[in-house]
Amino acid sequence: MASSVFLAGDENWWRQAVVYQVYPRSFKDSNGDGLGDVKGITSKVDYLADLGVDAIWLSPFYPSALADGGYDVADYRDVDPKLGTLADFDEMMAAYHKRGMRVFVDVVPNHSSDLHVWFQEALAAAPGSAARDRYIFRDGKGVNGELPPNDWPSHFGPSSWTRTTNADGTPGQWYLHLFAPEQPDFNWDNEEVIDDFKKTIRFWSDRGVDGFRIDVAHALKKDMSEPYPKIPGYDETHIPLDGSHHLFDRDDTIEIYRGWREVFNSYDPPRVAVAEAWVPTERRPRYSSPETLGQAFNFDLLITPWSAKKFKKSIEFNVDLAAKSGSSSTWVLSNHDVVRHASRYGLPQKANLEKWLLSDGEAPRLDRELGQQRARAAIMLLLALPGSTYIYQGEELGLFEVADLPGDALQDPMWLRDSGKRKGRDGCRVPLPWEKTGTSFGFGTGGAHLPMPGWFGDYSVAAEDSRADSTLNLYRSALELRKKSLTTESLEWVRSKGTVVHFARPNGWHSVTNFSHRSVRLPEGKVVLSSAPLVDGKLPGNSTVWLQK
Ligand code: NOJ
Repeated sequence: MASSVFLAGDENWWRQAVVYQVYPRSFKDSNGDGLGDVKGITSKVDYLADLGVDAIWLSPFYPSALADGGYDVADYRDVDPKLGTLADFDEMMAAYHKRGMRVFVDVVPNHSSDLHVWFQEALAAAPGSAARDRYIFRDGKGVNGELPPNDWPSHFGPSSWTRTTNADGTPGQWYLHLFAPEQPDFNWDNEEVIDDFKKTIRFWSDRGVDGFRIDVAHALKKDMSEPYPKIPGYDETHIPLDGSHHLFDRDDTIEIYRGWREVFNSYDPPRVAVAEAWVPTERRPRYSSPETLGQAFNFDLLITPWSAKKFKKSIEFNVDLAAKSGSSSTWVLSNHDVVRHASRYGLPQKANLEKWLLSDGEAPRLDRELGQQRARAAIMLLLALPGSTYIYQGEELGLFEVADLPGDALQDPMWLRDSGKRKGRDGCRVPLPWEKTGTSFGFGTGGAHLPMPGWFGDYSVAAEDSRADSTLNLYRSALELRKKSLTTESLEWVRSKGTVVHFARPNGWHSVTNFSHRSVRLPEGKVVLSSAPLVDGKLPGNSTVWLQK
């Protein structure tokens, strides 16, 4: 298996970094308005340094009407006044750098907000104008253009087209939005768009940003020629392998990233990037090669059920795949778009999560204890793997999905546009509990933009801090040990029972995960950490142990 040397502090720092995802408006509110903010992030630098992560990634904090939680960006080169100022941002960067942590920010290049100055200009301009060419405007079909140009669905709801209104009040052209109507898609054949995103990357790189997470990286280039093909659903599992889909993963998309690579490499150290590209796994290396973005999210474990066989297969495949493209793999159990994994692992593994959310988490029943045990085992397994691990805020507390948020509290466009069908992603975006009690459990001094359930107190940082066996303390210990143990990216499989995943890393570091419900005999070695107490010297079910040989 390919192996390359990891040297902390060198330009390969990202290859085995642990990156903590901050969802800014739900992280920490410093001014009591119920929304997390930049000063709140700064105030938690010690918490994250003590946790032991190498970097943080900030989901969008840019000016936004929050039609899609900030993924509707009105200005790519500023901070949302609701969240702070550029000066606050600089202060935050300095604080994290001082504690030896790097900072990633999100780039959202597929679409802007409808409030972006360019989109407002486009609306005011005539069909066929240069201003409209930055987006994707088309005439409607039907006698008076009253029908959308085609029937392509959007990710959040019925149609991916919205009709505009002309200055004189008459109905006008239609524009494309693969997500919400407040998120018009850019035209990536337009030179101004290409130049402007390079400017954005330079803007944040000049402010010291170390890396970028690229939103919907696979959708930028589109074939808008007619006749339009049928696209039955917004479903990336049907992307062909030859780059011929009209909307996703077109071959020339990566030309954009070759251009960005020149910008990344003009900095010392080179800026890094990670692609959010939901493409067939075989096509992922196109985004993660050193000539393009350098790394791409591997979301396979988000959809892998709790099974030794399936985990092992996925790990083998992804380690090899990353090596083939000259990258290292990424590992992700949760993020702001999916049901938290402590809940996923406590449900029957074939459960339909959307239906479960619609039942307010009542059916099927969630086995919290099981979910928690498996979540603890899973993170130890991940942290022992070569490559980088992404931790989503709150998973270090073992937080469950808040599945019973009332409909009138939900903000996700998935719910608002597709009402009754999908509850959406707010259940994993509830603000973090910092204190056991009090107004919004120490998230802020005011309320919280999403209701926080009573049980959050027991999972707060303060509560877990004082419990030696808490999930928070497990994460801290695991991250500390990982830092000491990391060397090269090699991994060797060790023969084990079919329900056990056992592999060795250099210098005698072994990780053993028991996926079954029955305890198993421990292989030889000194136990350095275990996700659950050993029982009669055996590894209990749904647990991971690290051994030193
Ligand atoms: C992916 C982001 O992770 C998600 O939250 C967002 O809704 C879409 N991209 C659109 O930007």
